[in-house]
Amino acid sequence: MGIRSMRWDDWIEIDHELPKYHLIRSERIRTRGDKVVKTLPPRPGVAGGSSAAVELVYELSEFLVRKYPQIYKVTRRKAQTEDFGWYGDGQIESITILPLQVTYELDKEDPLRVATLLTQEDLALMIEGSDGKYYFQAGAITVPGFWRMEDKIGLPLEEIHLTGDVPQYREKLQNSLERFFFKLSVNKPVLRNNYSFQIVRDANDPQRTISNDPDELAWSDTTIGHEDYYDQKGRGPFSDAQQTGKVEFRPPGSAENIRLRTERQGLRRLPRSGAIVFTIRTYIFPITDLAKEPGVPGRMASAIRSWPADVSRYKAKRLYDDVILSYLDESHRKQIEAGVVRADDHSSNYPY
Ligand code: HEM
Repeated sequence: MGIRSMRWDDWIEIDHELPKYHLIRSERIRTRGDKVVKTLPPRPGVAGGSSAAVELVYELSEFLVRKYPQIYKVTRRKAQTEDFGWYGDGQIESITILPLQVTYELDKEDPLRVATLLTQEDLALMIEGSDGKYYFQAGAITVPGFWRMEDKIGLPLEEIHLTGDVPQYREKLQNSLERFFFKLSVNKPVLRNNYSFQIVRDANDPQRTISNDPDELAWSDTTIGHEDYYDQKGRGPFSDAQQTGKVEFRPPGSAENIRLRTERQGLRRLPRSGAIVFTIRTYIFPITDLAKEPGVPGRMASAIRSWPADVSRYKAKRLYDDVILSYLDESHRKQIEAGVVRADDHSSNYPY
């Protein structure tokens, strides 16, 4: 499963890109509404997501103001029993992101909308049903890149993965993942990472769909077509959309058009509701920057060459492999020539 334990202090990371993420996510929420932020009501066999969503926004606010007091400021009410405040502090009433001068009233606004705008994370709340399965009952998935919350919300963990044809899910992941969810305790949060590649249009391409998101953080439009026509089974546009020209694929013109997309995913159980919070923080890097790092081009090329057929399909390798591999091989050759790496140095695995 590729998970490792997480230090409690490392739950959420905030960096200098907070304003950019905030802008993109606000725009996504404004334009896509409940396709990107939604809390399901209860249904037979599984509770709704609203108590967990409320608990989450208070947990996040407590965490953020303690870890980043230079970025967040809160006001609190007088302490009462059953408050969400930590260490006996009164419950937070409002939280301000100081560099942005934006304030959210926690008991007045949609908790998941606020939770995702406070951070750089996408958020999924998984709730145990009476059948022991975990259901995706609430989420704020504003910048998923390659999947849509509307296709997955309400589904149990196995269906989320099987509908997306995640390689080897049934064979290798399903049992251990379900056991892991059952056992995950409040004090044992974990992290995992993944990576993929995506193509982006040139900066001056008139067909760019989202002007404030040149790296296609929100949706990998150039790689898999427009979000509104996405068919998760085919991992691309519905065939009729392709035929009517609503989507158009372009191979990357050069390595300048390829990005590494990597997610830092956290899992922790909330103490009161018992829901599991899945946090997804996405980072995007130009390949041309990464290839300057000693040893990276060689290791990245050998990682891509080692993907089995199902992983290659899942990661849409055929769309970019010629361009990326020739660029990485050439960068690797230059690093060997310059004495930066040795030709036989395979000491580390890319990227983690
Ligand atoms: C330890 C926990 C988990 C493991 C080991 C896991 C594993 C995976 C793997 C291997 C993939 C393929 C892409 C990648 O490498 O990341 C994937 C995709 C995905 N996972 Fe998970 N997952 C976990 C938890 C979750 C949770 C809690 C959700 C809840 C929303 C979730 C939602 C998804 C979705 C939506 C995709 C994309 C599916 C698609 O392409 O349609 N995963 N997961």
